[in-house]
Amino acid sequence: MKNTLIVLLGVALATLLGVYAFMWLGMYNMGADSPHWKTTVSMLTMMRERSIEKHAASITVPGNIGDPQIILKGAGQYAAMCAGCHLAPGVSDSEIRPGLYPQPPDLGRVRVDPRQAFWVIKHGIKMSAMPAWGFSHDDATIWSMVAFLQELPGMTPAEYRAIVARAPPDADMGPMNAGAMPGDGHAHAHGGAGAAAVAATGAPVAHDHGGHDHGGAVDARTGSMPGMRGMDRDGAAGKPAFAASAHDAGHGGGVAAAEAVAADFRNALQRGDRAAVLALLAPRVRIREGGETQDRSAYAGHHLDADIAFLKTVRVELRERRSRLQGTRAIVTSLSDVRGSAHGNPVAVRSKETLTLTRAGAGWTIVAVDWSSAPLPSGEGT
Ligand code: HEC
Repeated sequence: MKNTLIVLLGVALATLLGVYAFMWLGMYNMGADSPHWKTTVSMLTMMRERSIEKHAASITVPGNIGDPQIILKGAGQYAAMCAGCHLAPGVSDSEIRPGLYPQPPDLGRVRVDPRQAFWVIKHGIKMSAMPAWGFSHDDATIWSMVAFLQELPGMTPAEYRAIVARAPPDADMGPMNAGAMPGDGHAHAHGGAGAAAVAATGAPVAHDHGGHDHGGAVDARTGSMPGMRGMDRDGAAGKPAFAASAHDAGHGGGVAAAEAVAADFRNALQRGDRAAVLALLAPRVRIREGGETQDRSAYAGHHLDADIAFLKTVRVELRERRSRLQGTRAIVTSLSDVRGSAHGNPVAVRSKETLTLTRAGAGWTIVAVDWSSAPLPSGEGT
C-alpha cells in the first residue's frame, strides 16, 4: 500500500515535470496558422463556455432591447466595428478574417444569447482576437449592438445594407474604427466615417514605397504594372492608371471584366495616356499611396504625371493578379516586380496594387486604388 502510494506520487510528479518541460522548451506551436491539438481545443472551449455562462448569468437584459432606434444604432456600430471580423449578410470575407484563430463566428448566422453577447462584447475573450469593447463603449452602446445582433441572423444583404445606411453616424467611429473593417465591402455608409475607409478597399496597406527614387531609364514596355508607385511623395511616382477603355474591358459583369479594367488601367499608365487613366476612375475615387489618400482631382493634378514619369524609368513585371467579388464590388489585386532606376538610384521593389471596382453601366469603374510596395525579397533584387 505504501509502495503504491509512492509510485503514484512519483508518476504524478514526473507528469507535472514533463508538462512543464514541454512548455518551457517552447515545443508547443503558438502560431495562429497552426491549429491547436484537439485536447487543447476541448479544454479551452469548455473553459470559455463555462466562464461566459457563469459570468453572464446575473446580467439583466434591458426592456428596450427590441426598440427600433436602439437596433438601428447597433447596426451602425456593428458595421463599423464588427463586420470585418464577424461578417454580415452579403459580406463573406475580409482582409483580417482568414488569419484569425479561433475564427470569429459569423454573427449573421448564429444568434447569441443576449446576456452572453453583452458580457463577451464588454469584456472580450482572452487569447482570441475578440476585444473588450467596454473600455471604449458604455453599457447602453453595447446593448444596442446586442439588440442588433438579435435581428441580424436571417437578414438579407439588401436589408443589412439598408439598415446600416440609415444608422446614425456615431461619434465613436473614428477613422480607426472604420479602418478596422476594411474588407467588408458594404457601403457602410454611415455618413462619412466609414465611407472613405471602405472606399479605400481594405487593406490598410503600408505603403511606403520602399524608397524608390526615380531616375534612370528602364523602359516600361511590357508588363508593367501600374501600381507601383512610389516614389517620393512628391514626386514622381509611378502609379499607373488604367487605361482607357473601359469599354472593351469593362463590359460584362464578371470578375474577368474587372480584371480587364485593371489591365487597361495599368496599360494606360504605362503609355502615359492621362485621359485613358482618368476615364477609368470614378468621380469619387480615392487613391492611396505611401500612406496618403488623394481624391481624383489631387491625383490628376500632380501625382498622375509623376506616376507616368516614374513608370517610364522602370520595368514592371506582373507576377500575379487575383480578383474576387465582394457584394457589389470587385477587388482586383496585382503584384508586380518593379526594377530599374529613378533619379539615379536603383529601384527594386515588389508592388501591390489593390483596385476596388463597382459596376457602372455594363462594366466596372474604379472607386479605390491602393498602392504599396516593399523591397524585393533578397536575392531577387536587381
Ligand atoms: C479582430 C476581430 C474581432 C472583432 C473586430 C470583433 N470580434 Fe467578436 N469575436 C472575435 C473572435 C475571434 C471571437 C471568438 C472567440 C473564441 O471563440 O474564443 C469573437 C466572439 C464574439 C462573440 C461570441 C459569440 C459566441 O458564439 O459566443 C460575440 C457576441 C462577438 N464576438 C461580438 C462582437 C461585436 C458586437 C463586435 C463589434 C463591436 C466584435 N465582436 C468585434 C473577433 C472579433
